[in-house]
Amino acid sequence: MADSSSGQIDHVLIEERLFPPPAKFTEKAVVASKAQYEELYAAARDDRDGFWGKEAQEHLHWFEPFDTVCQWQSPNAKWFVNGKTNASYNCLDRNIDNGLGDRVAILWEGEPGDTRTLTYRELRTEVCKCAEGLRALGVNQGDVVSVYMPMTPELAITMLACARIGAVHSVIFAGFSAESIADRNNDASAKVMVTADGLYRRGKVLPLKETVDEALAKSPTVEKCLVLRRIGQDGVSMTEGRDVWWHDVVETQIGDLPAEPLDSEAPLFILYTSGSTGKPKGILHTTAGYNLWAKRTFQWVFDHQEDDVYWCTADCGWITGHSYVVYGPLSAGATCLMYEGAPNHPQEDRFWDLVEKYKVTTLYTAPTAIRAFIKWGDEHVEKHDLSSLRLLGSVGEGINPEAWMWYHEKIGGKNCPIVDTWWQTETGGIMMSPLPGITSTKPGSCTTPLPGVIPEIVDESGQPVEPNHGGMLCIAQPWPGMLRGIWGDEKRYAEQYWTMVPGKYLTGDNARCDDDGYYWIMGRIDDVINVSGHRLSTIEVESALVSHEAVCEAAVVGRPDDLKGQAIAAFVTIRDREPDEELKKELRLHVRKQIGALANPDDIRFTASLPKTRSGKIMRRLLRDIAAGHEATGDTSTLEDLSVLASLKDED
Ligand code: WT7
Repeated sequence: MADSSSGQIDHVLIEERLFPPPAKFTEKAVVASKAQYEELYAAARDDRDGFWGKEAQEHLHWFEPFDTVCQWQSPNAKWFVNGKTNASYNCLDRNIDNGLGDRVAILWEGEPGDTRTLTYRELRTEVCKCAEGLRALGVNQGDVVSVYMPMTPELAITMLACARIGAVHSVIFAGFSAESIADRNNDASAKVMVTADGLYRRGKVLPLKETVDEALAKSPTVEKCLVLRRIGQDGVSMTEGRDVWWHDVVETQIGDLPAEPLDSEAPLFILYTSGSTGKPKGILHTTAGYNLWAKRTFQWVFDHQEDDVYWCTADCGWITGHSYVVYGPLSAGATCLMYEGAPNHPQEDRFWDLVEKYKVTTLYTAPTAIRAFIKWGDEHVEKHDLSSLRLLGSVGEGINPEAWMWYHEKIGGKNCPIVDTWWQTETGGIMMSPLPGITSTKPGSCTTPLPGVIPEIVDESGQPVEPNHGGMLCIAQPWPGMLRGIWGDEKRYAEQYWTMVPGKYLTGDNARCDDDGYYWIMGRIDDVINVSGHRLSTIEVESALVSHEAVCEAAVVGRPDDLKGQAIAAFVTIRDREPDEELKKELRLHVRKQIGALANPDDIRFTASLPKTRSGKIMRRLLRDIAAGHEATGDTSTLEDLSVLASLKDED
């Protein structure tokens, strides 16, 4: 273990398993040799503008060519300056022009089991109708459209329709409260809102329009509200002069509207993320750079092949849905499955049912889902034929090595590479990930950077740390997909991302790079625990706990301790065991054996479930309060249910 007097972070978890890519996979992979990757990587690093200029010319459509590849004056970047393109054109028309008009773009299944299929040509018609409808409602280039919808094709259609006419979409996950919607509407001065009468969730109907009505009462800038009939129940209240139905305004249009030539740097969307402190930030992405990044990272990481059926399970309310349900795969001409509902409706095998039914080849999901599947039991998986799968992906949090192994064995049948993709809302797309044809994977590591990504790990004074030491992860060069700002808050943008290590992008994560040049994300900077002067990463202690057979999920936080500075508090969910003192003892012993006495949890608390944000991340801030005794949780002797607390707290 390293000495941490320099402010570096100790790493205690040793993971030595290595999984080479299956030879069959490598043969026809998009990136098929290490030499090819190294060439791409070196070209993007040594001749950034030459590399990206060529990429942009080849992979996007240009109404007018750009004259400068990158204008960079920290912290402000402009890419493909003075060029004119359109993301909706790149996702639709470009594919149709290339003969893919009859290829299926979206395979959709609603939670109740209703289905739809849209080819690229059909999708363009729907997008045009929606764009014409939005124009009829007074939406102009540069106007912000808030979108609060279920995962229906119309959600993707609305996003692309905005892109087509140069309106800026702001998708708000359809689980947020009226208060959160109003905050976002007001921050962005949204002009129009698009929503639905309701959505299905675990067999129940959630009345979306009611929530929107409450939000609109506090959203003075919103002039019109377009409402999709998804549920079809009577009694939806429509405000005269403000609210209109999708079937009146959109479905009646012609469906033939040319894509507007837009400046490369025209805002494409805002997406609010809660951030670790304070009010949510509207992360701004612009047209050309983002589009190129989403497309190329999709092709590289998901090794896109013509006959793939690709399924990203994320909701379009998150960046993963923006980049890897809509813009990335559609720009690449992929066939995408889209599913509306919950993974455990009507049963816990819904995902596996869908994989079998649609012969999904590529599955991209999140560790929080994987841990739920483990908890629900293997029998749900074993009922289904998953042999169509050839590639698995993970995103959103670190994946504990044991969850990785389960994914590899039970879902991948031991012969699908796993791409553990590290990135952020701010980065626009994947930054570090295995390339499935060439990278030997290590469970728990997001492995190596993609072309154009120059990671650097630094200590608190901004100096690079030695290999194998943890520190703050920065990105040393601008890249096309990077955020262009925080909506309406230039100062916060500069301070939050570009000030601590001047001129470099501060990710807010800690990481370590091992001797093979593989990166290991160690969690958020704020989550480090300092035990007797040793700085430990929470994910390593969590992974040690999860490697015990009785543990499903673990969350580890620091709590104040007079003697050690901080003590380690662990919250765990378990299966097939009683939550008793005996098990606590066993877990302590297990962690001690796995990673050493220093990381031994001082408190262990069993809980029925962990408090999570709406995007499935463990709410460590809340757990820190509980561990410190600031928060009453009732009975702490046996089994608590912390998800109840989470539902009382609005994450933003
Ligand atoms: C934060 C970004 C990326 C889209 C979804 C989340 C954590 C994300 C990984 C990974 C370890 C990960 C980081 C990052 N994170 N992917 N593969 N391994 N940590 O987007 O809500 O902006 O969150 O999620 O802490 O900074 P986001």
